[in-house]
Amino acid sequence: MPSDIGLIGLGTMGAALALNIAENGFDIAVWNRTAKTTETFHQNAGDLAARITPTESLQQLVGALKEPRIIILMVPAGDPVDEQISALRPLLGPDDLLIDAGNANFHDTNRRLRAATGLFIGIGVSGGEDGARHGPSIMGGGDPAHWQRAAPILEAIAVKYDGTACAKWLGEEGAGHFVKAVHNGIEYADMQMIAEVYGVMRDGMGMTAPDIGAVLSRWNDGALRSYLVEISAEVAKAHDAATDRPLLDVIVDAAGQKGTGRWTVIEAQHLAAPIPAIEAAVVARNLSSQRNTRAQGEAIFGAAPQALAAGTLDTECLAQALIAGKILCYAQGFGMIAAAAQQFGWSLPLPEIARVWRAGCIIRSDMLDDMADALSEDSTRNLAFAPYFANHLKTSHQALRRLVAQAALHGLAVPALGSGLAYFDTLRTSRGTANMIQGQRDYFGLHGFMRLDDNSTGQHGPWAQE
Ligand code: 6PG
Repeated sequence: MPSDIGLIGLGTMGAALALNIAENGFDIAVWNRTAKTTETFHQNAGDLAARITPTESLQQLVGALKEPRIIILMVPAGDPVDEQISALRPLLGPDDLLIDAGNANFHDTNRRLRAATGLFIGIGVSGGEDGARHGPSIMGGGDPAHWQRAAPILEAIAVKYDGTACAKWLGEEGAGHFVKAVHNGIEYADMQMIAEVYGVMRDGMGMTAPDIGAVLSRWNDGALRSYLVEISAEVAKAHDAATDRPLLDVIVDAAGQKGTGRWTVIEAQHLAAPIPAIEAAVVARNLSSQRNTRAQGEAIFGAAPQALAAGTLDTECLAQALIAGKILCYAQGFGMIAAAAQQFGWSLPLPEIARVWRAGCIIRSDMLDDMADALSEDSTRNLAFAPYFANHLKTSHQALRRLVAQAALHGLAVPALGSGLAYFDTLRTSRGTANMIQGQRDYFGLHGFMRLDDNSTGQHGPWAQE
């Protein structure tokens, strides 16, 4: 019997997704570049093997599928996707649909769609291996009619929040991959802010990794409940048997990255969308990998971190600061999505996006449910101005301020939290300092400015006559 869907690429994510599809009652045919991988995958599929058809060539894969066909590509982003599409197209009919479920750059997805050599959509899939296996969050893009064709399968395999599948069509063209990139940018900032607070507890407050783990676990029972806080607690509590020390203390402090956070930052600049916390997080990862430079700097200037005097900060202050930082970071991320909706003419419904992120994905958290509500009330206003979050920030910004100030005084680097605070203060300064920039621009380039008492543009200072 022909299979309901095909899948190409049995790496970690592809294999997990294929098992998820089979477990949800769909017959799936799979193909991998290395035949041995396909064979081993099938052998290890247990009860699900009956629903899985391993194939040894693209021809065989295509022949094993119900028509019109749906094939998911789960291959590394970039050239491998183009190569796979080129190899497949000649074998496919005009109504067959390819779905790129990898972490593609949305510009590539746009390009592939516009090439229009056949039906194609891009979807963002989040949740790591466990999510792919048991219920990811799925961000759909492309032609809505094409999404609809695959929706019964994608909704079935997606995680459910209050019975609703976290799998939605979010916008035209590469919108699914765009939303996934912003998700990853937020993921970077969320992770970075947790790491910064960890650093304050470790270097400023002299706490051990297991103690920090216990604090994070406690936070995970309150407003900060989220997957990233939960796993950070687990990471902090882990013990290294080889050295009899906390595992965290023996992990090298240089963060890896595959590039999605960087794409978000680059795109934010194109859109002139301010996402300073996400930018700070990407920069922090880049700096983290410059270990030699950091060691040289420490040798020249002395180690930056100094202990805080007892009682200067407590963990409740850190929790409040983290909540404030998180609200501001998400406000930036959603603001960037709103800017993209306008620039690209895409749908990108902000409340729906918050809902799709409530479960399954890496940034899932209780707060996203409140964000979905706040964005439903008014998706055009900055999320930080929604009454629920504004009320929170009115008090929690003081904790963020205390943390950032003490961190600055004691050499504890908190770039994402610090930039969150600067963003917040900028947002509530109606009379900023860009009048000086305008004066400077006019001075050296006669670019012109506007006066507070006269709206006409192109006015100049006295230097224009010199
Ligand atoms: C997810 C993750 C996932 C992955 C990325 C990020 O949503 O499931 O974002 O896509 O973790 O590869 O990786 P880097 O930290 O390597 O950029």
